[in-house]
Amino acid sequence: MPNRDVAIVVLAAGKGTRLKSSLAKVLHSAGGRPLVDHVVRACAPLGPKKTVVIVGHQAEQVAARVEPLEAETVLQQPQHGTGHAMQVAKRTLGNAKIAVVLPGDAPLIRTETLKALMNAHRAANAAATILTAVVADPSGYGRIVRKSGNSVAAIVEDSQLSPEQREINEINSSIYCFTLDKLWPALAQVKPNNKHREIYLTDAVAVLASKGETVLAQVSPDPREVLGCNTRADLAEVDRNFREWKRNELMDAGVTILLPETVLLDPDVTAGEDTILEPCVQLLGGTRIGARCRIGTGSVLTDAILGDDVTVEPHCVVAKSRLDAEVRIGPFSRLRPDNHLKAGSRIGNFVEMKKSTLGEGSKAMHLTYLGDAKIGSKANIGAGTITCNYDGFHKYPTTIGNKVFIGSDSALVAPVRIGDGAYVAAGSTVTDNVPPDALAIARGRQANKPGWAAKKRRELAAAEKPAKSTKRKRAARKTSSRRAKSKRRR
Ligand code: UD1
Ligand code: MG
Repeated sequence: MPNRDVAIVVLAAGKGTRLKSSLAKVLHSAGGRPLVDHVVRACAPLGPKKTVVIVGHQAEQVAARVEPLEAETVLQQPQHGTGHAMQVAKRTLGNAKIAVVLPGDAPLIRTETLKALMNAHRAANAAATILTAVVADPSGYGRIVRKSGNSVAAIVEDSQLSPEQREINEINSSIYCFTLDKLWPALAQVKPNNKHREIYLTDAVAVLASKGETVLAQVSPDPREVLGCNTRADLAEVDRNFREWKRNELMDAGVTILLPETVLLDPDVTAGEDTILEPCVQLLGGTRIGARCRIGTGSVLTDAILGDDVTVEPHCVVAKSRLDAEVRIGPFSRLRPDNHLKAGSRIGNFVEMKKSTLGEGSKAMHLTYLGDAKIGSKANIGAGTITCNYDGFHKYPTTIGNKVFIGSDSALVAPVRIGDGAYVAAGSTVTDNVPPDALAIARGRQANKPGWAAKKRRELAAAEKPAKSTKRKRAARKTSSRRAKSKRRR
C-alpha cells in the first residue's frame, strides 16, 4: 500500500562516541548488515513518497550504503542534535504531510510495527505518535511522561530525569510519526538543551503537548524491536536477536538446526526442506542451500550455491562456489572463489580449489591443490596432486579430460592438457601435454641395489662395537661402587 503523503526520515549523522570506533555508528553491522541498511529496508515496503537519510559523520560512506536502496541523503554539518537534523531535512521533505522518523541505530524495527504506528497516527489525526516500549532496564533512554491514557506530556532524557521519573520504565524508541505542519512551528520553539547546545527532537514533543496538540504513545508489541545501539554490548544484543529471528525463519521453512544458538545465518540465506545444519555452522552472504543437504559442524559458507542432497562434512570453508546435487566435500576442504563442482563429484580432506571446475562424478580426495583447472567427468585426482598454475608472473590453466587418472604426488605444470582417458604415473612432474589414453611418466627411473641395506647395517654394527663395550664396562663399575656405599651406610 503506497503512502504518497509520507516521507521517511532516518537520522544517521551522529558519530556514536560511545562505541569508541573510527567507523560511524550506523555503518557498524549487526545481523549481517550495517545498522542503517536494516532501517531503510524496513521502511521500503511502506511505499513512501521519499526516504531521506540525514548524514554527517562519514557522510560519503553512509550515502554509498543507502543510495542503492533508493534513499536520498541530506548533509547535517555540524550535528546539533536530533531536532536540528529534522530542521536540516525540512526543504527536502517538500510537501509530504507526515514524516516517519527513525534513528539509524535501531535496526530491529519491523515493517508491521511501522504500519501500525502510521495507522494509529492517522486514525487519531495526531500531531505526533511516539513508538514506545516497556522495558526492564530503561537506563540510557528518554522516558515517556504520560498525561492520561494514551496521551503524552513530554519525553525526558535520561540525564535530565527527576528521581520519581527514574521509576518510569516506558522508553522513547526515537521512532515517531509527525504531522509536519504541526512539527515545524513546535521545533522552532525548542531551545538548545544540553551543554553541546543540541536541539532535541524529543523537546518538540513537550511543546506540541503544551499547545494542546494530540501526542500519542503507541507501545511496541515486542520491546526488542526498538533496541538502540549505543555501545558494543548493544550491538551484540541486537545481533543476537537478528540471528535468532533468521534461524527461526529457516526452521519454520523445514530446516533442522542442531544447537541453534551456535549457528550464524546472514539475512539473505535460504535453505531447502530437511536440510540439517550442525552446530557452529556459519552461512553468510548470499548462500543458498538446496533440500536434504547436511552442513557439518564448523563449516563456513559464503555466497555458496548448493543443489539438493549435498554433504559438507565438518570444517569446510566455501567461498562463492557452486556445488551441484549430491556433491560431497570435506572434512577440511577449502573452496576459494569461482569453483563449480558438478553433480556427484567429491573432494576430501586438505583439498583446496580456486577458479576450477570438477566434472560429474570426479574425485580429488586428499591433500590437493586445483587452481585454474578444468576437470572432466569421472576423473580421479590422486593424493597430493598440485596444479602449478603460477610461474611468479602469470596464472595458467590446466585441462584434465574425462576419465583421467592422475597418480599421487603429481605436479601438473600449467599451461598443460591431459587428454581423455590418460594416466599420469605417481610422482610425475608433467610439463608437456598428455595425449588421450596415453600413460605419462615424468620422474627419475628407480634403481634397486640388491643386499645394499643389509651390508650397510653390518658395516655400521662393526664400527660401533668397541665403543659400546667400553661404555658398558664403565656403567657396571659405577653401579657396584654405589651398592658398596649404601651397604656401608646401613
Ligand atoms: C535518542 C533519544 C532518546 C531515545 C533514544 C532511543 C534524543 C534527544 N534522544 O537518544 O529519547 O530514548 O534515542 O534509542 O533524540 N543523530 C543525527 N544528528 C544529530 C544527532 C543524532 O542524525 O545531530 C542521529 C544519530 O546518528 C542516531 C540518532 O540520531 O542514529 C539518535 O542519536 P543518539 O545519539 O543515538 O541518541 P540517543 O542518545 O540514543
Ligand atoms: Mg541511540
